[in-house]
Amino acid sequence: MHAPVPPAAAPALPTAPSYAPASEALKAGGTIEPVREILWGSSAGMRKYETAQEVPEEMRKLIIRLMVVQADTEFASIQQHRPWLDQAPVLEDRWIEARIVADEARHGLQACRILRDFGEEGQRYIDDLLTKREGEHKLDAFNMKFDRWSDVGAFTCFVDRVGVYQLRAFQECSYGPLARAMPLMLSEEQLHLNFGASVLRRMAKDGPKYAGSKEEAQAAIRKWYPRALDMFGHSQSETSRLAIDLGLKRWTNEEARERYIAEIAPIIRSMGLELPPADFDRRIL
Ligand SMILES: [Fe+2]
Ligand SMILES: [Fe+2]
Repeated sequence: MHAPVPPAAAPALPTAPSYAPASEALKAGGTIEPVREILWGSSAGMRKYETAQEVPEEMRKLIIRLMVVQADTEFASIQQHRPWLDQAPVLEDRWIEARIVADEARHGLQACRILRDFGEEGQRYIDDLLTKREGEHKLDAFNMKFDRWSDVGAFTCFVDRVGVYQLRAFQECSYGPLARAMPLMLSEEQLHLNFGASVLRRMAKDGPKYAGSKEEAQAAIRKWYPRALDMFGHSQSETSRLAIDLGLKRWTNEEARERYIAEIAPIIRSMGLELPPADFDRRIL
């Protein structure tokens, strides 16, 4: 008689540490292949939430809040860009302006689709978002007009770049529909911020032969950089910590802001222009 063979042990369920390399790669600003599991926060290793119905209440509230702000910025920037669709200095710039407006409309729609999944409550927010006029938006950077072409350059170089950080913070987040919207949005935003840098660079280099002047580009940097840094939110924000714990965002506000400053500083220096100090003219610290 042989002793009964014990049944093979069930394969171990994945646990948080096995996702550590992917999570670390994302936190460091890299990209990874899409995965089904939550990569960070207190539910790391569990399957991502795939529908609005299965999302826990605290997370539901935060997703709605984040998507309302996201959609509001997209719709606001359409209003800001609109006057420049037929005033940009050269033909290619007008075409890119038109593309940016179309992209921002699509991003607004994308955020609203996520809100719509949250039923009547989400729909009420969408209805409200569509009534917002210039000057009524949530973040200061989106209530300022583009008075000169240098404003368009500095806005897309600085403010769209913050937008990219906000989107990258959602990459591979714990809510599947949001995570899956990121790659396309990110590739579109990349055009916007490269365009902004090219406007400032051409202005600084060619002056009135292109448009404006180096001084005008510098003044626009001083106007928009502080508003862009404010967009990351308060350094000690509890909401940003909650967003990380829920697996929705991967950086705290301050971590994202520091990465952003490190990225933008050499770009502006290479144009022969200067960033003001990070605490210059700030409203949200
Ligand atoms: Fe956008
Ligand atoms: Fe954009």
